[in-house]
Amino acid sequence: MIHVLPPHIERRLRLLRDKNGASLIIRFYQDADYPALADMYRWFEPKEWSQGLPPCLEDRREAWLRYVVEKAINFLAIMEDKVAGHAALFEIERDFSYEYLIFVHQDYQDRGVGTALSQAVKDVAQAMQYHKIWLTVGAINLKAIHVYEKVGFCMMGPRDMECLMVLDLKDNNKGQ
Ligand SMILES: CC(C)(COP(=O)(O)OP(=O)(O)OC[C@H]1O[C@@H](n2cnc3c(N)ncnc32)[C@H](O)[C@@H]1OP(=O)(O)O)[C@@H](O)C(=O)NCCC(=O)NCCS
Repeated sequence: MIHVLPPHIERRLRLLRDKNGASLIIRFYQDADYPALADMYRWFEPKEWSQGLPPCLEDRREAWLRYVVEKAINFLAIMEDKVAGHAALFEIERDFSYEYLIFVHQDYQDRGVGTALSQAVKDVAQAMQYHKIWLTVGAINLKAIHVYEKVGFCMMGPRDMECLMVLDLKDNNKGQ
């Protein structure tokens, strides 16, 4: 699992701003971040709206979050010294295929955080020569679909209740 970003990406992620010009830092999650991340999900609303996540019941939420931070590569968006957003990549096939998850706390939504976080995850995945990232999203989650399309995810198959979206990094990796 990677914990150090390539320096050119690291520099860029520390100089980010949201749409209002406020400072935004994107970095890897570390163990010491767990209480702040758990706090973001404790106050996250509406719970269970996106594919049943984040769980409403505290013990289920904790079990889910412990699983995510243990199994995935985790990224945090930090604003005002708080966790504003969290993204994770689950390795499905080594160095090849990863599943994507993202949540931005409601106080920080619609400020460009989800787009910046997703773009950062894409940059890291490209730097690591991953081949593809995929996700499923509810067809009614138009905001999330818009963000995913902005960073390059494409809809695969029909727009059903749950849509499959894929970000193919293979072409982007050529020549690096
Ligand atoms: C989806 C989510 C990650 C996006 O993060 P965010 O920080 O709010 O996103 P951004 O501010 O970067 O971008 C939002 C974009 O969606 C657009 N948008 C807002 N509401 C929209 C709607 N109802 N339909 C379509 N687009 C919409 C905004 O205009 C903006 O686009 P623009 O920058 O091109 O103008 C965040 O809203 C979230 O955590 N939602 C709840 C959990 C969730 O749905 N996670 C994804 C599970 S698959």
